[in-house]
Amino acid sequence: MTIKNICCIGAGYVGGPTMAVIAQKCPNIKVTVVDINESRINQWNDPNVEKIPIYEPGLSDIVKEARGRNLFFSTDVDKAIDDADMIFISVNTPTKTYGIGKGMAADLKFIELCARQIARVAKDDKIVVEKSTLPVRTAEALKNILDNTGNGVNYQILSNPEFLAEGTAVDDLMNPDRVLIGGDIDSPEGKEAVEALTDVYAQWVPRERLLTTNVWSSELSKLTANAFLAQRVSSINAMSELCEKTGADVNEVAKAVGMDSRIGPKFLKASVGFGGSCFQKDILNLVYIAKSFGLNEVADYWEQVILMNDHQKKRFAANMVKAMYNTVSGKKIALLGWAFKKDTNDTRESAAIYVADYLLNEQAEIVVYDPKVTEEQIYSDLDYLGSRSGDANRQAVTVVNDPLEACDGAHAVAILTEWDEFTTLDWQKIYDQMLKPAFLFDGRRLLEPETKKKIGFEFYAIGN
Ligand code: UDX
Ligand code: ADP
Repeated sequence: MTIKNICCIGAGYVGGPTMAVIAQKCPNIKVTVVDINESRINQWNDPNVEKIPIYEPGLSDIVKEARGRNLFFSTDVDKAIDDADMIFISVNTPTKTYGIGKGMAADLKFIELCARQIARVAKDDKIVVEKSTLPVRTAEALKNILDNTGNGVNYQILSNPEFLAEGTAVDDLMNPDRVLIGGDIDSPEGKEAVEALTDVYAQWVPRERLLTTNVWSSELSKLTANAFLAQRVSSINAMSELCEKTGADVNEVAKAVGMDSRIGPKFLKASVGFGGSCFQKDILNLVYIAKSFGLNEVADYWEQVILMNDHQKKRFAANMVKAMYNTVSGKKIALLGWAFKKDTNDTRESAAIYVADYLLNEQAEIVVYDPKVTEEQIYSDLDYLGSRSGDANRQAVTVVNDPLEACDGAHAVAILTEWDEFTTLDWQKIYDQMLKPAFLFDGRRLLEPETKKKIGFEFYAIGN
């Protein structure tokens, strides 16, 4: 069977870029991305493509090319479902904040709502593709809801986890290491569905990179990949603390270790802690699943990756306070960067939020500059923690549009996101405008240390 019409439910960081690339690469397929969030859809449809709601290098050009040709953004979810042969579910699956599994399990309510909506609307057979990161065996739950509440039509459920990383999403989608497609490969209908999706990707991805598995392997592979990547970051971060005590340099250690071809150089960059919508959530999911099967040692093993990450964020902030004579009360501290990594405007689980919160508890005055994150988002991230009132956050935190303004009159500057532009700031001018001693804390090992020390900064970097 040949797919002609795709619908994607969820116009977020995964659904938006993924569908834009499918539309660009497959001009014969009509791709409609739907969302219940009307303002988000309006932004995707903004005549000025620079105003689409997600910042990703290269994405606006693709949207410009495909939008209105075979790529559409709409709030009419029912119509898009009805028209489609293949429906991607790309809605958010946050960690539960209530009830059983609170703080650990994925909240599947948005997925379930999608399934019920598909079941209500669909009048002919559909292939439903899980794109959101989900706990293992969600496909089974999806199938159950569809089969029991639907209009008697047939559904094939595929798992097609997304491996794109934010900031490099377009590149990752254009040239993926692999595309994983899980389906019911033992039945002829399942096989046909898997082949239909494989044919979509084969329009630009070499066949040998298209991997077919059973549904549960596919679901678990996504959690495993993210757990392994996060584990590398926590491992090097653990070493960064040891380096600070022993005089070793974590960058040198990472380089030496990474040159072992069995280990490899990637994901060995020490930092103030990993963030993003996936790592923590997926590991918590893994821990929850392991516990629910009574696999306590497996659960504890992976949980430690998160505990180490929490420690790293706290440790960075605590070191700042310690260096500044054990008090930051009333001191102005400039935070450069708020996004969880460079080249994205996403702030979910960003280390910056937790560092700021720690410093605010120590009564610091915070000024934030990030080239892509809005003031509204920064306040909303802090309010979400619930550590203090919204008013108190707005009183203690200022957001500015200029990094030099952020640093003007500050006691300390901390680099929390590795934006390229921070390397070329006029650090002499920043130093001149700061209070002395001028503290500079590099949470990303971004800046060249010797020149900063020569200027006069009290310079501290993670793992050095
Ligand atoms: C991750 C996975 O990489 C991707 O495959 C999956 O689809 C979604 O989750 P993402 O969260 O977008 O992607 O970004 P990633 O590049 O993995 O970075 C995650 C966090 O780890 C960031 O905060 C980043 O700064 C941090 N990190 C990464 C480090 O601190 N050091 C490193 O060496 C690499
Ligand atoms: P991700 O990083 O997984 O893409 P986002 O939060 O960026 O997560 O995007 C998920 C999108 O899914 C949001 O824009 C949200 O409004 C949308 N969404 C959630 N539930 C539904 C639903 N039932 N129907 C349509 N869209 C939905």
